[in-house]
Amino acid sequence: MTSGAVDPSTTAAWAELARLAESYSPDLRGQLADAGFVADRTLAAADLHVDLSKNLAGPEVEAALLALADEVSLVSRRDAMFAGDHINVTEDRAVLHTALRLPASASLTVDGQDVVADVHDVLGRAYAFAERVRSGEWTGVTGRRIETVVNIGIGGSDLGPVMAYEALEPYRQDGLACRFISNIDPTDAGQELKGLDPETTLFIVSSKTFGTLETLTNARLCKAWLLDNLPSDADSGAAVAQHFVAVSTALDKVADFGIDTDNAFGFWDWVGGRYSMDSAIGLSLVIAVGPDHFADLLAGFHAMDEHFRTAPAEANVPLRMGLLNVWYTNFLGAHTHAVLPYAQLLHRFPAYLQQLTMESNGKGVRWDGEAVGYDTGEVFWGEPGTNGQHAFYQLIHQGTRLVPADFIAFARPAYELRDGDADVHELFLANFFAQTKALAFGKTADEVRAEGVAEELVSARTFPGNRPTTSIMAPALTPSVLGQLIALYEHITFVEGAVWGIDSFDQWGVELGKQLAQELRPAVSGDTDVLAQQDASTQSLIRYYQEHRG
Ligand code: F6P
Repeated sequence: MTSGAVDPSTTAAWAELARLAESYSPDLRGQLADAGFVADRTLAAADLHVDLSKNLAGPEVEAALLALADEVSLVSRRDAMFAGDHINVTEDRAVLHTALRLPASASLTVDGQDVVADVHDVLGRAYAFAERVRSGEWTGVTGRRIETVVNIGIGGSDLGPVMAYEALEPYRQDGLACRFISNIDPTDAGQELKGLDPETTLFIVSSKTFGTLETLTNARLCKAWLLDNLPSDADSGAAVAQHFVAVSTALDKVADFGIDTDNAFGFWDWVGGRYSMDSAIGLSLVIAVGPDHFADLLAGFHAMDEHFRTAPAEANVPLRMGLLNVWYTNFLGAHTHAVLPYAQLLHRFPAYLQQLTMESNGKGVRWDGEAVGYDTGEVFWGEPGTNGQHAFYQLIHQGTRLVPADFIAFARPAYELRDGDADVHELFLANFFAQTKALAFGKTADEVRAEGVAEELVSARTFPGNRPTTSIMAPALTPSVLGQLIALYEHITFVEGAVWGIDSFDQWGVELGKQLAQELRPAVSGDTDVLAQQDASTQSLIRYYQEHRG
């Protein structure tokens, strides 16, 4: 373990924030009456327009948060990440997802390796392969062009590609669809394979380690489905070669699985799974939207990287947003964080962010191995507006919990539709503007009374207000803007982890469950000795399963 993790709770800034929190009295109405206050907190990051003015933080809190960043040496940790230092200490690895989007003209040598050349070599191969599939030059074993690409992967090898595939729906090529199989619940493969024509289906097995139980099981299922359903005269070796490609850091295991490594696309151990959608893990997306749009996506990521790397602290959006999240988590008692895209195309974005943020920052020890004495990690969740308004917004408006929320919207709609004279996108955006205003201002008891509400209902119809939000807008949901949004949250996650002194790039917490599943498997299948070694609850649950299996 490396030393040098600062316990943030021992810093002067932390003490100052605690002092400020004790007497903190939110006044969003006052903040928003001051045009200068709002202007100072309306920031630009690449194409994103970010309004921080509806947060529960004035100049004193903001200054203390920036001081905290200084005291934990956040800038030098950021620079160490970009330089390729091994800041993932528990795995002794560099953390270089930012290198995946460096332009070919950049240079970065890490551990003796020309990282930029490697990245662009694989990108070039992935782009060429995608073009062959898109043009129909790459065919299935019976000579028919590919119509469906099935990505088999889980976690970071699934969530990013599927989220971006949905988000960039207007950029997809007609006649070429993607499906995604992730869960080891056989229902997933069962449903996704339904209706597919094996002759026109291409499988991409996406797994950083190529050792993930779910992915390898699903890959075997799909291989068997392919061979069982192709015309009987199809050669099985040729069929696998034409219908299976792989993306992995473990090309030896790809070969063991029977996939030709000529049809495999590599990446590197310095790309974390949840930071990998802009590596070859995005191959399904490259095929769906084409290399040019994928290159725009990468350029968007890079634009946000440059903002984070170079913008001064006061103007640095990921830094400011990450620090606000620390304020809410450690000083104002928030446990969760809502992400509310007013964009149906971003319906998988909250799910994507759950892995990014919670697998990164759900840690209880610092990178020097010491237990933390403060909360870490936020529970990220959300749904697109306006659906969420009719589901869980009640709790955000009037519940007892503090739920900081990020609202995301785009000036131009993906679909221009009118309801008579009304532009439906304007109706939609009116809701976006209204919600953050309602959360900030609330409605006082006197305002409720002035509407003629009966006295016994006044308290139920009062809104406390002072509910914090950040509004993020962009001209349109383009590939570049999507890349900027994802990189924004990657860097927010980095900032929080750096303040907390934790290794945001390992994920040991997922291992125990995997190990126990392997140990329990024989008991589930009827091994009474293994069953007898289990605790009473586990035995009882497995017995219930066995009695009802049929
Ligand atoms: O179990 C968690 C995890 O390791 C994630 O971090 C990762 O994204 C996912 O599993 C899939 O891993 P792989 O790409 O190696 O199959």
